[in-house]
Amino acid sequence: MATSDFALFMGQLLRKPHQVVALAPSSRFLCAEMVAEIDPAAGPVIELGAGTGNITQAILDRGVRPQDLHSIEMNPEFCDRLRARFPGLNVHQMSAGDVGSLPVETAQAVVSGLPLLSMPVALQRAILTGTFQRVRKGGTYVQFTYGPKPPVTRVVREELGLDWRVSGKIWWNMPPARVYRFFQPGAGA
Ligand SMILES: C[S@@+](CC[C@H](N)C(=O)[O-])C[C@H]1O[C@@H](n2cnc3c(N)ncnc32)[C@H](O)[C@@H]1O
Repeated sequence: MATSDFALFMGQLLRKPHQVVALAPSSRFLCAEMVAEIDPAAGPVIELGAGTGNITQAILDRGVRPQDLHSIEMNPEFCDRLRARFPGLNVHQMSAGDVGSLPVETAQAVVSGLPLLSMPVALQRAILTGTFQRVRKGGTYVQFTYGPKPPVTRVVREELGLDWRVSGKIWWNMPPARVYRFFQPGAGA
């Protein structure tokens, strides 16, 4: 990650701590786990809370073309940086709560760097409901978390009938994290 990206991230963390909610950008080890099941031949990918683009880069490194990746980020400074860093990427300056309105059909996955657990239930519900409108049958919602519990609150999991798989702990991240993959079991994930 470029020093200027790190400086931008830390500056925005100081100005908007309730939106950024992370001590540092995701490490390359966490990014690698987030994108481990992305297949460039399996359709478009949607990213939520792209920040300065560490997970974005990892998705593109899997072979996904920039035009097949839709990155949602609400912070305008981060959006400017994403557009400069990744020519051809679809950058959407909007709330992740509106993901269901994206003009994307049959995404293979929604990959989220959002601070989901610190969000109100209504916003989580909008994000997860929108996600499962946009992913194809068997598609997944991929989310890291620093804590011991699943990062999607129980009421939303139950409403949408979500099950999950979870990675081992990724120690080389600040703080250490796990990656959850949520899916609707009847949909063949
Ligand atoms: C923890 S940072 C993650 C940045 C980057 N993906 C990474 O992993 O290093 C969370 C990001 O989510 C963005 N964010 C927070 N709430 C959001 C929302 N409701 N809609 C879109 N982006 C949001 C913040 O602006 C910030 O860039």
